[in-house]
Amino acid sequence: MSLTPITGRPGLSEREGFRPKITTATLREYKLNHEPITCLTAYDYAAARLVDEAGMDMVLVGDSLAQAVLGYENTLSVTMDEMLHHVKAVRRGVKSALLIADMPYGSYQVDVKDAIMNATRFVKEGGAEVVKIEGGEKRADLIRHIIDAEIPVAGHIGLTPQSVNVMGGYKVQGKSLSGIEHLMRDAVALDRAGVACIYLEGIPREVAAMITSEVSAPTIGIGAGPECDGQVLVFHDILNLTFGPPAKFVRRYADAAALIAQAVQAYRADVKSHQYPKDEESYHLPRETKAGLDTVLARKRAMRR
Ligand code: KIV
Repeated sequence: MSLTPITGRPGLSEREGFRPKITTATLREYKLNHEPITCLTAYDYAAARLVDEAGMDMVLVGDSLAQAVLGYENTLSVTMDEMLHHVKAVRRGVKSALLIADMPYGSYQVDVKDAIMNATRFVKEGGAEVVKIEGGEKRADLIRHIIDAEIPVAGHIGLTPQSVNVMGGYKVQGKSLSGIEHLMRDAVALDRAGVACIYLEGIPREVAAMITSEVSAPTIGIGAGPECDGQVLVFHDILNLTFGPPAKFVRRYADAAALIAQAVQAYRADVKSHQYPKDEESYHLPRETKAGLDTVLARKRAMRR
């Protein structure tokens, strides 16, 4: 008898809501079958449940947590402990999707031992199934060490936000012939290192298409055009919860900011105008207790006279 569950919830058919567990093997299978891979970020339990139950293949706890949730200026400030706190919350909400944790700036650049230790924390304490690391060729050896520790790794190349100070801003990468060559070398190095997938951020569509057909690892694009094997967007971006002008590639699927503002204003107005709470929104004493209380209060009033 095998003790390892191979599928999600046994006994349920797909029509009854059964969804097989997505693994790194599923991603490769999707690439081979030209089945687009879907990925969205999530940073807390509620969002994780909604994203997972909507059928996303992958949930990424991105270090975009820094700006989207924690209000930092960029991703450089977010710490291991902050990331881990949110990975744990997301883990509790995700059942079928593959859970990826972003390794924050400083958690893998200093030394290999530290990097393996931090990646291990995401798996052991956070329940992540894959860790994501920014950088190409220069990270290939490190990635091999992490994979040797039985931890699948997602690569991330192109516009890598943790390099914002080196890039001199958030700039589309791979626009020159030498830039293209650099990106191709990065992608091939990650593929050879055995990554589970490669995130391609902020690169020309033509370059992303070349990389996608060159590597065996599935590519997940963000601002990298439609030829990638999959797409990722930031939860707060697609819901208009980011308080700024969106990047070119962001498509807004709902205006949650307007919806939330409307609900909060309506609640405030109801409280100010004594419209909330109503009697049916209040708890009541049991009938006998109420009768007893009325008697006590009546006696007290009589004594005061
Ligand atoms: O942090 C993040 O959300 C990311 C995606 C944009 C790929 O790394």
